[in-house]
Amino acid sequence: MLLKDIIKKLRTKGAIAPSSRFLVNKMLSKIDYTQDLDILQLGFGNGVFTKEIIRRSTTNSSLTIFEIDKNCRKYKLDNKRITYVEDSAEKISLYFEDKKFDHIISTLPFASLQREVSQNIFKEIKQHLKKNGKFLQFQYSLFSRKDFNKLCKEKPKIDFELLNLPPAFIYEKTKYCDMG
Ligand SMILES: C[S@@+](CC[C@H](N)C(=O)[O-])C[C@H]1O[C@@H](n2cnc3c(N)ncnc32)[C@H](O)[C@@H]1O
Repeated sequence: MLLKDIIKKLRTKGAIAPSSRFLVNKMLSKIDYTQDLDILQLGFGNGVFTKEIIRRSTTNSSLTIFEIDKNCRKYKLDNKRITYVEDSAEKISLYFEDKKFDHIISTLPFASLQREVSQNIFKEIKQHLKKNGKFLQFQYSLFSRKDFNKLCKEKPKIDFELLNLPPAFIYEKTKYCDMG
């Protein structure tokens, strides 16, 4: 891949390659799937996280996805447990007014989103996550750490996965964090 292609991909998708199975596993293993869950996924890409969430969760669990890029449609999975919304994660409330999700798993490229867009999405996350729910997010740098710190009163846990291109940090809003 040429440097100009890499830069273009980073700007539009916030990534140069789909997440590795190591990153997917490390991030998703932070959730307990023994109960039926209502999960929200932000950013679908080519569905690497989605396939694994569906595989791990119970047959009565549901998964709602927000993905803004219409080019990702071709990777959509035909599964009745999935609700796929082709729109920005800024608009969760428009589709799911007062609904609260058990957990929110995000692969959004916050470091390359406009500040206003990121702030709007953070507001939505706060509004739609159950009190004891987890918010999981990976990023390729710690640049957005301050924004994640503002999400709740306690600092999020940070984990790291080397076996990804590029290596990634995983932010985890813990179960008992008070989002105020
Ligand atoms: C870094 S890619 C992750 C793709 C895939 N989940 C993975 O891990 O390989 C980020 C995805 O978020 C999507 N995205 C970016 N901004 C968005 C927004 N405001 N709302 C919903 N999806 C968005 C992009 O189109 C892209 O598919």
